[in-house]
Amino acid sequence: MTESLITVSYIAAAILFILSLGGLSSQETARRGNLYGILGMAIALVATAATPGVTGYAMLAGAIIPGVLIGGFLAQRVAMTAMPELVAILHSFVGLAAVLVGFASYLGPQDASMTAVEVTIHEVEIFIGVFVGAITFTGSVIAFAKLRGSIGGKPFIIPARHAINAGMVIGSVVLGYMFLDAGHATTDGGNPGGLMPLLIMTGIACVLGVHMVMAIGGADMPVVVSMLNSYSGWAAAAAGFMLSNDLLIITGALVGSSGAILSYIMCAAMNRSFISVILGGFGSDGGAPSGPAKVVEGEAVPTDVEKVVADMKAAKSLIIIPGYGMAVAQAQHSLSEVVKILRKELKKNVRFGIHPVAGRLPGHMNVLLAEANVPYDIVLEMDELNDDFPDTDLVLVIGANDIVNPSALDDPNSPIAGMPVLECWKSTKTVVMKRSMGTGYAGVQNPLFFKDNTEMLFGDAKKNVDAMLAEIRK
Ligand code: TAP
Repeated sequence: MTESLITVSYIAAAILFILSLGGLSSQETARRGNLYGILGMAIALVATAATPGVTGYAMLAGAIIPGVLIGGFLAQRVAMTAMPELVAILHSFVGLAAVLVGFASYLGPQDASMTAVEVTIHEVEIFIGVFVGAITFTGSVIAFAKLRGSIGGKPFIIPARHAINAGMVIGSVVLGYMFLDAGHATTDGGNPGGLMPLLIMTGIACVLGVHMVMAIGGADMPVVVSMLNSYSGWAAAAAGFMLSNDLLIITGALVGSSGAILSYIMCAAMNRSFISVILGGFGSDGGAPSGPAKVVEGEAVPTDVEKVVADMKAAKSLIIIPGYGMAVAQAQHSLSEVVKILRKELKKNVRFGIHPVAGRLPGHMNVLLAEANVPYDIVLEMDELNDDFPDTDLVLVIGANDIVNPSALDDPNSPIAGMPVLECWKSTKTVVMKRSMGTGYAGVQNPLFFKDNTEMLFGDAKKNVDAMLAEIRK
């Protein structure tokens, strides 16, 4: 391919990536957005492979073909609920790639036409790229392990952690100075004097990535995943600078900035400080609680399907709060049928309340409800209906837990303190559908289950909703 054809292909791919991001901003256009992204990536891959100077096609095929097969296989098999884990591990690959590209750029032959200033700029790119890449790599591996449950969701807080983090950053800056001072690996007859500072900084950045993500509590993980998404974008952009690949710079910047905007929106929704999350629990609300969380005790009142259906028939206004358990049980289709009967035949006012981090990925509940043909106009965000609970007769909480936990508001020592929640206990009656008294993702006890106006309908959400459907049809 000629240089100009490659440039045109890169511009086309960049435009498709921007259209893709635009498309993903609403449910109606998301499918189209995905197609634009796939097309843009296909163009980018072909154009990059056809760049003059790329010759090792056998090696390239040896990397790409297994990569495509493994990626396709994993994406086919992954459950919707395990999506954040997959995303986290993919971020770690981007970080690792940036580290490897950085080392290869440093140790590889240097372009003889570069001026001294250009060499310095290139080395700054290498150093920053490896730093961001290493943090992204280990941070994402820890996020993956936390999301899988291999590491507990509780924040791991060590004393003087701010000072330790700051020390690691300052140490890296000093190493950066030593790295630049040592010159490029191949200028002094192949003496890579900067390799040692680069290696030590990589080790420090890896520890920093682990430390930052370990300090984040379970309920804040969604924000961390989108933050790591942003980091992976900046790591890719840095790799683009190192490789002088304009498309990689643009793509990395798009991922980096959109990830940062998403993180900012999620922080606002979760009442968390953006800075504190970026810096891994650095700041006031990332701090350790001043005492133990309140002990939650009491007696939960169990109910059964017949009674719940009788309550539904008696109620005028109902709000349904779905959570992760609805997704696991795949109860949305039967639930959609129940809602149809309630609205069309029994003329009830039924709405869904969606918490910004319900389930395990952004928009998880919206996707499931859309799939089950629940009309968009009865699916409302938390802020749109949190004031309506006092006027609501019945709330059905289906497989949700953390997002309806009153201790987020009542207990300043709770790990989820300050997180806005759906205040369903203010309604006349709440029925919580879950299998046991177990905790949710954040591992926090829920006082909602012991409130006077709460009843528990135990069992698998799908089985219980199916039974409700049969009962309501009687
Ligand atoms: P959770 O707090 O995780 O609670 C889900 C509840 O569903 C569990 O307590 C579980 O109780 C119940 N459950 C599981 N399987 C069930 C089944 N088959 N039938 C009925 N119930 C079932 O979920 P949530 O309220 O949706 O809150 C989301 C949590 O995940 C938040 O802490 C959030 O920060 C975190 N998170 C969210 C995201 C995103 S982006 N949304 C990403 C990562 C983490 P039983 O075991 O007793 O049944």
